[in-house]
Amino acid sequence: MTKLKIISSRERLTQAKADLLIVPLCEDTALTQHPDGDADIGKRIAAVVKSGDFAGRNGQTFLIPIHAGRAARILLVGLGKKVDVTAERLRQAGAKAFLAIRPFRIETIAVAAHLFNGMDRERIGFDSASFYLVEGGLLARYRFRKYRHEEQDDQESNLQEITIFGEEVLADVQRLLISIQANALARDLVLTPANELTPAALAVAARGAVGKNVSVRILDKKTIAREGMRAFLAVAQGSQHEPKLIVMEYKGAQGAPTALVGKAVTFDSGGISLKPSDGMEKMKYDMAGAAAVIGVMQALSRLKAKQHVVAVIPACENLPGGAAFRPGDVIKSRSGKTIEIISTDAEGRLMLADALDYAIKHFKPREVIDIATLTGACSIAFGHAAIALMSTSPDLVGRLKLAGDATYERVWEMPLFEEFREYIKGDVSDIKNAGGRKGSLISAGSFLREFVGDTPWAHLDIAGTAWIDKDKPYFSKGATGVGVRLLLELLRDRRGKGKE
Ligand code: BES
Ligand code: MN
Ligand code: ZN
Repeated sequence: MTKLKIISSRERLTQAKADLLIVPLCEDTALTQHPDGDADIGKRIAAVVKSGDFAGRNGQTFLIPIHAGRAARILLVGLGKKVDVTAERLRQAGAKAFLAIRPFRIETIAVAAHLFNGMDRERIGFDSASFYLVEGGLLARYRFRKYRHEEQDDQESNLQEITIFGEEVLADVQRLLISIQANALARDLVLTPANELTPAALAVAARGAVGKNVSVRILDKKTIAREGMRAFLAVAQGSQHEPKLIVMEYKGAQGAPTALVGKAVTFDSGGISLKPSDGMEKMKYDMAGAAAVIGVMQALSRLKAKQHVVAVIPACENLPGGAAFRPGDVIKSRSGKTIEIISTDAEGRLMLADALDYAIKHFKPREVIDIATLTGACSIAFGHAAIALMSTSPDLVGRLKLAGDATYERVWEMPLFEEFREYIKGDVSDIKNAGGRKGSLISAGSFLREFVGDTPWAHLDIAGTAWIDKDKPYFSKGATGVGVRLLLELLRDRRGKGKE
């Protein structure tokens, strides 16, 4: 994967040679070929369409093996009706295409959406269409093979070069590859089991993920205690694995940073408030928020982005045991607020409370975003379809919605009504860590709000989106790496507003 190159070219396709040429077509495409195309290829495509074997229906693919001339093979990819083509449809079509060619030995791919005037270019330019096809295709190629000895069932590792032929040279192809690799890193981290991905191992992985332009500090248990992060430490105390606070800083610009805070529970058993054992193996994904943040930091580092971003990741394991914290315990958080533990399974908010307080007081960020697999209620509400968003900043909400729509890592805002403060009001303490089942998606957000003061803040609950039980067009079941592409898009948006 790392040796893969993506190139954007304005050359005429007749001058290029590729093992595979991908051509998207709509149901209602008139087959007049662009002068850049090879006449022989044009004839062959026309013949296939005429035969009725390929009609351009959405999701349809058709392979034309040639093994002569410029392209060894042509893959036609259907997009349905021109008016229905969206960026997401293109990603999904790209996934179909890349999965269809898995069995073949292909080193070079050419993508050319402009060849047959195959879509409505007013809706989506031909170049961006090719871009989205490649994005979906590359996301779909991801596999987690660390622990499987079975033979490779495809020849994907042969792929070396993808060239997007089009009208302009796309400046963004480098960014595309970097974001795909960051997404893959997040998925690798999430899928690595908790016996290997301990808090210490996550810290090592975070350090290894970024270049020298990112400073990484790893705070051990003693230092965390000195920082007064008692709520975080309470969660960690049932496990033999010591907690780590991972702090990363990428300073590609002056001024106050954006702070990202990612929950990393390497395994969430629920602690003394033990979870049911059915499906508990999935709780290794309770560090998906941190995985997304680490992916983002890697991408910023590689992009040499003109951004100032800090990441704060509280990492520990939530286990029951003789030293574990218990329901009824009262803990003084780093901020000074006291918290009564109602459920040791509502652990993420305890870690985030201290991490948010640390991030805000330490770095005085212009805004802070936390990302976490925080509540089961999030997936009850949204299934795998949306990230739950809660925020004190309408500006952040607007930008996150735009970034979500652009990447299809969509967010949906939940109301942080004042009433929800009541849900978590303490009886013997300032607040309590659980407010019952009703409204628990929002009471979790409401809890976090107690720790952010006036700093513009957004909370992203990815419990429903970070892990999927069934394959999606470009995500195989399991980890999705959600959050990486969303946050990178958000940060890019910010750069456009500033000085570049
Ligand atoms: N990590 C879980 C949330 C979760 C559940 C994520 C299922 C992904 C899938 C979190 O720590 C948790 O256990 N939350 C509790 C909170 C409750 C006790 C107030 C929940 O949502 O059940
Ligand atoms: Mn829990
Ligand atoms: Zn959890």
